[in-house]
Amino acid sequence: MTVTVERGESSPEKLLAPVLSSFWDESQSWTMETYLRHDGYEGMRRALAMAPDDVIALVKDSGLRGRGGAGFPTGMKWQFIPQGDGKPHYLVVNADESEPGTCKDIPLLFANPHALIEGMVIACHAIRSQHAFIYLRGEVVPVLRRLHEAVREAYEAGYLGKADARRQKLGLADLPDLEITVHAGAGAYICGEETALLDSLEGRRGQPRLRPPFPAVAGLYACPTVVNNVESIASVPAILTKGNEWFRSMGSEKSPGFTLYSLSGHVAAPGQYEGPLGITLRQLLDMSGGIRPGHRLKFWTPGGSSTPLLTEEHLDVPLDYEGVGAAGSMLGTKALQCFDETTCVVRAVTRWTEFYAHESCGKCTPCREGTYWLVQLLRDIEAGKGRMEDLAKLADIADNINGKSFCALGDGAASPIFSSLKYFKEEYEQHITGGGCPFDPAKSTVWADDPSSTHLGVTA
Ligand SMILES: Cc1cc2nc3c(=O)[nH]c(=O)nc-3n(C[C@H](O)[C@H](O)[C@H](O)COP(=O)(O)O)c2cc1C
Ligand code: SF4
Repeated sequence: MTVTVERGESSPEKLLAPVLSSFWDESQSWTMETYLRHDGYEGMRRALAMAPDDVIALVKDSGLRGRGGAGFPTGMKWQFIPQGDGKPHYLVVNADESEPGTCKDIPLLFANPHALIEGMVIACHAIRSQHAFIYLRGEVVPVLRRLHEAVREAYEAGYLGKADARRQKLGLADLPDLEITVHAGAGAYICGEETALLDSLEGRRGQPRLRPPFPAVAGLYACPTVVNNVESIASVPAILTKGNEWFRSMGSEKSPGFTLYSLSGHVAAPGQYEGPLGITLRQLLDMSGGIRPGHRLKFWTPGGSSTPLLTEEHLDVPLDYEGVGAAGSMLGTKALQCFDETTCVVRAVTRWTEFYAHESCGKCTPCREGTYWLVQLLRDIEAGKGRMEDLAKLADIADNINGKSFCALGDGAASPIFSSLKYFKEEYEQHITGGGCPFDPAKSTVWADDPSSTHLGVTA
């Protein structure tokens, strides 16, 4: 693919802003020793010397928005926790990361787990919590081991543990107990939905809860709870260390700061690219070698499979919450899955819809039944057994799921249907009139891994 950015403008040094990923390429990047060499736990020391409400005010003023998908302001979420209520408060970190295409939290935890732990100590101080949980997607055993080891190191250093030990080791007179529990989930996408996650953490089957009450009032064990994404919490220490002015020097007024973009699919160099909010896909492709040689971009997701598809015409959309919203999609988790012209859009949407039907928890009818019927129709169309009226039926079923389901999984399932019909209706029709898929399946698979790719991408 040819991309047009003036020479020099697209150099990684100019466009990227590695913070969380700044030393991922060092050997033993995950250890406490490495983290301390990179100003690790400085933000925590500053925060612990501040009043909790001042920490909340600082994070609120930074403009940091949650990186789990919805972009809710992090400081505001912390402020919702009632104070002086006499109940335990909990911090729960959402590390379930199961959305197709989304792959930032797992590499972050693998390469730099202490950024999360430091962020958790700061957040617990701010919301006056003495017990925090990390709910990790259970399949990623190497990350689980690494997290356990990092938490052990933090206990040993006195950043976590009993009040006496913490006070002694940190030289601060007024510190409470602080415990972190690492919990491995059993592998269900719905357990990433924050209230289903809380049910699962309590030992029940993970299904979304009716709101209100919201977790800030009645969350884990019916106590005030903050649920935040891994990247949201891991971004906090740098804000404490370097300040709001620095943070706001990146991104835009409403979407400030740096973030991890995960480039995947038919690209020359897949990986994590940490840059300011508002960077464009064209810039990211330009600096990373573009779409695989000899091919051109056909469609892409800005933030995982539940965010509406975009096309080549959206290459210059600023990748921030407002920019992607104005283009008719959502920034979501910034999982930029790129598909070239060899990909059958019907095939891709069928695979995603099968995922949603499989992961639907079954609690509400529109999603449980609707995703099942979407799959039946899509499989028929893909196999050349569809009828023209099926296209209206697809849109109708998606419409009956979207906004009418109990949780956002249903909306996510409807997204690829609506957006693919919007941009690629002709391709659906071709499958129907031509009696099957016009693409050669051998050519439409995701490109084989390039052995020279590190999967960390360009980080510095
Ligand atoms: C089906 C579904 C799956 C989700 N999976 C995740 C996930 O894996 N990680 C995550 O942080 N948020 C996930 N979310 C969003 C969470 O419900 C919640 O909004 C998020 O953890 C809040 O964190 P933040 O404010 O820091 O962004 C999911 C939502 C839905 C509906
Ligand atoms: S929308 Fe789907 S996943 Fe969410 S509650 Fe309803 S059935 Fe369960």
